[in-house]
Order: sequence, then C-alpha cells, then structure tokens
Amino acid sequence: MITRRKFIKQSASALATGLIVPQALRAGNFLAPSMAPSDQINVALIGCKSMGWADLSDIMNHKGLNCVALCDVDQNILQNRAADAEKAWGRKPELYTDYRKVLERKDIDAVIIGTPDHWHCLMMTDACAAGKDVYVEKPIANTIAECDAMTAAVQRYSRVIQVGQQQRSSELWRSMKQYVDSGQLGKIARVNIWANFAYAAILPRVADKPVPQGVDYDMWLGPAPQRPFNEKRFHGLWRMFWDYGGGLMTDWGVHLLDMGLWGMNVKGMPRRVVALGGNLAYPNNFSETFDTLKVLYEFPDFIMQWSNSALQSGPYDRNYGVEFKGQNGTLVANRESWEVIPNGNKLEAVKKTPTNNEHYDHTTNFIESIRNRNLATACPITNGSICAKYAHMGNIAARPKESLTYDEAHQTFHNKQADKLITPTYRKPWKMYKD
Ligand SMILES: NC(=O)c1ccc[n+]([C@@H]2O[C@H](COP(=O)([O-])OP(=O)(O)OC[C@H]3O[C@@H](n4cnc5c(N)ncnc54)[C@H](O)[C@@H]3O)[C@@H](O)[C@H]2O)c1
Repeated sequence: MITRRKFIKQSASALATGLIVPQALRAGNFLAPSMAPSDQINVALIGCKSMGWADLSDIMNHKGLNCVALCDVDQNILQNRAADAEKAWGRKPELYTDYRKVLERKDIDAVIIGTPDHWHCLMMTDACAAGKDVYVEKPIANTIAECDAMTAAVQRYSRVIQVGQQQRSSELWRSMKQYVDSGQLGKIARVNIWANFAYAAILPRVADKPVPQGVDYDMWLGPAPQRPFNEKRFHGLWRMFWDYGGGLMTDWGVHLLDMGLWGMNVKGMPRRVVALGGNLAYPNNFSETFDTLKVLYEFPDFIMQWSNSALQSGPYDRNYGVEFKGQNGTLVANRESWEVIPNGNKLEAVKKTPTNNEHYDHTTNFIESIRNRNLATACPITNGSICAKYAHMGNIAARPKESLTYDEAHQTFHNKQADKLITPTYRKPWKMYKD
C-alpha cells in the first residue's frame, strides 16, 4: 500500500528530477490519499512557551501521534520543553531555532504554530509550500493583507488548516448558535461583545536591556522592525505592541467576534466601521494597544458593538461575553454558560453550561481531518481570516480617528493613514507570501 507520506516523498522526488510535472503538483496540490488509521502522524511545534505547548499536549493525547521536533528562539524555553516532552512521551524530539529547518524535514506531516502573531503568516505560508498541514494559533495574522496571503496559500497548496479558535469545537457555543438560528429571540438588531481584562493594560514601563543569554532576538523579531530588547515587549506581553499584536481587540476579539458573526450568519465585511479608543485609563503605561476601545460594525439590518477595557468586570457579572438582543429576549453567552433572559413572557428562560472539552475536541478534529484529507475543518483559514480582519479593522478604525469603510474588492479603506496599516512592511530579508 502506498502511504500518504510515501506518496508525497515519491511525488516530490519525481518533481525534483523533472520526470513528471502534472498540473496538480505544479500547483502544489498534493492529492494524497487518506491515511490509514494505523499511520503515524509526525508533528512539530514552533513556538513552545505557552499556547503552542497546550496545543501540542492535547494533540499528543491522541493515538498514533509522534512529537518529532520542537523549535523555539529561546534556548531556556526550548530545553525545558524538550525535557517536558521526553518525560511525557518517552522520546526527546529534535530541537531547532530556525523553523525553516523544521519545514525541510520530509518526515514531518503537521506543524503547530504557537509563536507571537507577527510570525504566523510567514510560518504558515512556508509550511503550506512545504506540504505540511498546520494548526495555527489565532489571530491568524497581525494585518489584513497577511490574512489574504494565508488564505491564498492554503488554497494553492490544499493543506489541512485548523485555526486555534477552539470555541468552534464547543458544544456550548454550538447549542447557542442553534438557539439563535431557531429565530426564537425574534428580530435581532443589536449584538454586543465585550472583553474587560486587566492583563492587557497594566504594564509599567521598564528600561530596555541587553538580550538575555540563549535568546535569538533577531529571529524573535523576524519581519518586525528592529527595536532594542525589552522584557515587557517579550514573552506573553508582546500582545500590547502593534508590531507583534493588537491588544484585547485581537487577543479576545477573534474568539468573541467569531461567535457574534457565526450567530448572525455573517460571511463578509461590514458596511461601515466606526471606532473610538486610546490609552485613556492608563495613559502613562507602556503598552501601545488601546486599554479602552469601542467599535461599531454596521450591517444592513443590525449593528454589532465591541468594547474592551481593563476593568475586569462587565454586564451580567461577566467580564467578557456576547449578547444577542432580540425582540423576544436576550441571549448572553461566554465560555462558562449561555442563558436566555425573556423580554416579557414571549420566551422561556434557558441556561446551558459546557458539556465537552472544546480545546481537546478541536485538536481531535484537526487530526481526523489530516487522516481523512478533510479541508473543511472546524475552523478553516477562511473563518480565521474573517475574524482576524474584523478585529484588525476595529483597531485600524480607531487609529486615524475617522469612520471607515473597508472596500475588500480593492483592498482599501479609501483613507491614506488606514491603508498604510493593511499591509505590513517586513524587515529585510523577510518577504510576505505572494500568490
Ligand atoms: N487559542 C487560544 O485560546 C489562545 C490562548 C493564548 C494564546 N493564543 C495564541 O497563541 C500564540 C502564542 O501566544 P503565547 O501566549 O503562547 O505567547 P508566548 O510569548 O508565551 O510564547 C510564544 C513562543 O514563541 C517563541 N517564538 C517567538 N518567535 C519565534 C520564532 N521565530 N521561532 C520559534 N519560536 C519563536 C517564543 O520564544 C515563545 O516561546 C499567539 O498567537 C496567541 O494569540 C491562543
């Protein structure tokens, strides 16, 4: 029997010797057969500290999986995770600091990308071109243009992609969607979404320092502009600096906007975006992304509102959530539960709590999709892209202090300042994927 890995290897070597160049292979569409359930899947993790490790750990809780490589630019993290991997799975993976070396390995089937957001596009498009399936963390990218580049690469190379928006694999959120779809709430004219977390704003300023030993800082920066090392812009905290992340708007925004857009069956761009924001609560702190932000997205027959703050509290005693305001009642949801609050006596009160481990099931869906060559995963790149674009639009609209319309067909906001934020300027020698 020809296994999937053998097929790709043989096809690739035939290509290298110029023996065959069928259209599908020229386009990078490795039409590999499904894998036998007994086939082992070799995975590599790129970016090992926090969420990437959580992703790998759940992936490794499945049968037939081997962790064969770990890649990180911080030796302190890499060595610790290598020891963790050996303890957990009885075998020390090969260690790398340059992800391109990982992608050169023909025996690797899938990679997990758990690096900061500014790296996702380069790594994922390179991984697709190298014939790997990818679990890429959210938000899929740090700019709108990168979202388009990633979608194009996935289509060209026909790879299985799971975006780390694990709420898509949650029974709780699925039942919420079913309830909203049932129409019982009546006409929904307003969706409110909020995320109030202190971690994103309270960041005291500290001086730049020499790069810590064992850290390849140039490779951490990658395509981002050169800047001195600062521990408050490094592990975990990079989220609050525009070059690497988008603050709460992208960090929580993609998860929660996803639920609002899913509930309202939105598949395209809003008519208009209006946003106001700034570092108003903590004007002297170090973070660049906004500690206070309100965004309005306009659709033909409803409006959706996003807000974030550092208060750590919110409506319905929930510091984050989604609220669908219908004529007959309100549905309010977050990861802990969803409930319906009737308006008068038109509806019954309902309350649901989680029934599955959404993150584990999200990784199961990824693995099954790899085995079955199913490109329609629980959260494919198209969905990751739309949510990331909404989040970036919110930030972009707040930065020039004007209301904007995103003209997706022509990739412009018709506003010079906002248009500059659509496409990143990669630091040399890094080049963004172009289809
Ligand atoms: N799905 C979720 O619920 C969820 C939760 C948390 C974080 N995330 C996402 O996961 C990603 C990682 O976030 P985090 O909190 O784990 O960040 P982190 O800073 O804790 O970890 C990132 C790791 O990537 C490494 N890294 C940076 N550049 C690298 C490179 N060029 N090559 C290899 N390794 C590199 C860092 O050294 C670090 O070990 C982000 O995109 C974040 O938004 C998702």
